[in-house]
Amino acid sequence: MTCPDDPFPDLPAGKEELFAAAAAEYDRYRPGVPTEAAELLADTVRDLPDPVLLDLGTGTGQVPRALLPAVPGLAHIEAVDVSRQMLDQARDALVPVLGRCTLRLVHAAADAYGPLPDDETRAPDLVTCCRSFHWMDGPAVLAMADRVAAPDATVAIMGDGSLWTHEADWTRALRELIQHYLGSERRAGTGATYSEPRRSYGEGLATSAWSDVTEHRIPVGRAWAPKDVIGYLRSTSFAGPELFGQRHAAFEAEARTLLDAHAAGDSLSESAVFTLLLARRPGVAR
Ligand SMILES: C[S@@+](CC[C@H](N)C(=O)[O-])C[C@H]1O[C@@H](n2cnc3c(N)ncnc32)[C@H](O)[C@@H]1O
Repeated sequence: MTCPDDPFPDLPAGKEELFAAAAAEYDRYRPGVPTEAAELLADTVRDLPDPVLLDLGTGTGQVPRALLPAVPGLAHIEAVDVSRQMLDQARDALVPVLGRCTLRLVHAAADAYGPLPDDETRAPDLVTCCRSFHWMDGPAVLAMADRVAAPDATVAIMGDGSLWTHEADWTRALRELIQHYLGSERRAGTGATYSEPRRSYGEGLATSAWSDVTEHRIPVGRAWAPKDVIGYLRSTSFAGPELFGQRHAAFEAEARTLLDAHAAGDSLSESAVFTLLLARRPGVAR
């Protein structure tokens, strides 16, 4: 396992800081990849000997963690992220469960990823982007995947929205409270606001080398304890502590009161849909 001491050259300014502070909270409070999604990913490499995974925007390693048990023969993982703190969390979580699989942590922007010059790692058979593609230069990432991936590889773009986008009474009330403190626009770290991608992921894939796309939608029910929602919020780019400055403690106290009132001694439910787009190059039979 390696983690280069120096980052790859093209780390975007400000990107690393955006995710650094959140790494520990992210690891603790973000839901993992659903088992059904892991099985669909596993099916894409099921018949291959010694498959290799390239996980872009790996965060704390949620995708490799879900895939290792689903693909017992997984031979190698390239885990890429712009945040060194996220990679540190990923290493701590993955090393104990790797078994014979090898791991390389790569501190780089996804579109700048490439194998090292003397690298003997096989080309990836599966390239994954979970809850991370919207942070990246999509066309450049898909072009990079086309350069590096095996001929019959699959690209998987997946995610399940967030408590900002979820529509329920308690998430609406929570969003309004965040907006009361931070303004109506959804924040994306300090000094930036979130803008919806101009094209859907499907449209982006359709015009890339990965135009043979199938979509899978997996309903996921989650029960949140109010204190875990508070921890989750700390890990987000729309309600992280740094956005509130001195008012963070006041925000958390109000948010906790609001969540407790909605939970009324029970948990808060989220009905999410985890969506996977599995994309291949056209005309590639498996
Ligand atoms: C919301 S997290 C998702 C983490 C993980 N894939 C998961 O599903 O839990 C997004 C991750 O993408 C990383 N990231 C953002 N922009 C990136 C880029 N251009 N290249 C590589 N990683 C990036 C962030 O540092 C962060 O760890």
